[in-house]
Amino acid sequence: MNEINIAVIGGDGIGPEVTREAMRVLDAAGDVYGFKTRRTEYPFGSEHYFKTQEIFPDAAFEEVKGMDAIYLGAIGDPRAPVGMIEYGIIAKMRFDLDLYINLRPIKLFDERLCPLKGKTPEDVDMLIIRENTEGAYAGMHGFCHKGQPLEVATQTMVYTREGVERPIRYAFEAARARNKKKQVMLIDKANAVRAHDIWTRTFAEVAKEYPDIKTDHAYVDAACMWMVKNPEWFDVAVTTNLFGDIVTDLGAMIQGGMGIAASGNLHPGQVSLFEPIHGSAPKHAGKNVASPVAAIMASAMLLDYCGQKEASKAIEAIVARLLISGQLKGVATADHGTDEVGDMVLEALRSTTAV
Ligand code: IPM
Ligand code: MG
Repeated sequence: MNEINIAVIGGDGIGPEVTREAMRVLDAAGDVYGFKTRRTEYPFGSEHYFKTQEIFPDAAFEEVKGMDAIYLGAIGDPRAPVGMIEYGIIAKMRFDLDLYINLRPIKLFDERLCPLKGKTPEDVDMLIIRENTEGAYAGMHGFCHKGQPLEVATQTMVYTREGVERPIRYAFEAARARNKKKQVMLIDKANAVRAHDIWTRTFAEVAKEYPDIKTDHAYVDAACMWMVKNPEWFDVAVTTNLFGDIVTDLGAMIQGGMGIAASGNLHPGQVSLFEPIHGSAPKHAGKNVASPVAAIMASAMLLDYCGQKEASKAIEAIVARLLISGQLKGVATADHGTDEVGDMVLEALRSTTAV
């Protein structure tokens, strides 16, 4: 598509400032690669909630449904009730738009960003597929005798056959498309959480349709260990919502930190959501010190999803080059000014000639 309609939610804390840089990158990429983004900005987030008591009104949600993609900066404010804005904005989009894939690439661009001794970019290049609409996040929780000595709290993990099969199938397709190790690892905890047997069985069945793809399996505790000890063993991994949340923070660290990790929440063929994995970092907000690299990587994922694959690859290559050359010292807070990083990427993009 030559025109991409995007709903933009800058959100809380550093969200708006890193989003601003990502949007500048989209504009410059559009100039070079011949597409336009039409963007509608929404003010939603904690600040907006404090002012208006509004989280994500239905009318805006209906508009967003008609877009090609959604871009989200960050959500979270320690002054808001725990989880309220997260559930009202991020989780609402994940569930109500049925964004069943959470795609989290973990790729190390330069050795010096990796805290693991001796690991190089060849060793850290994996794709984690996190199931994104079920499991422990399905919202089936409750309390009884609340506040009493007898209090009971429960939260049910929910797995449907269809809900398990679709990310597994996506993982096999992704392993084929990546054409690297051609391997999919299932990460679960079926030895203790017996409901995960549905993952074991579904994985084995789907695997039969992909004889060209090798399969592997790790319980989540072991997977954490292997990600640190032997990240080179991973290619594509698929896992539950909660485990995916956890292992991708670990993954973000081995690729260089929260300043670089990005993700896509997808319903293939429909409006999908792109965001950096990092949070809102309120203490750094408004100081021009947050690294926008993760936000920029999220915009590259958005472009890939919306069919601008060359532009997406160019942005990723520029970030890699800036890191390898040392022009970008790092992706930690205050390594550079937020806008300074945006300027570097823009300058590199403008000197690129589209192929
Ligand atoms: C993530 C975040 C969210 C999650 C929070 C903000 C609800 O940690 O996207 O990984 O747990 O999914
Ligand atoms: Mg998380």
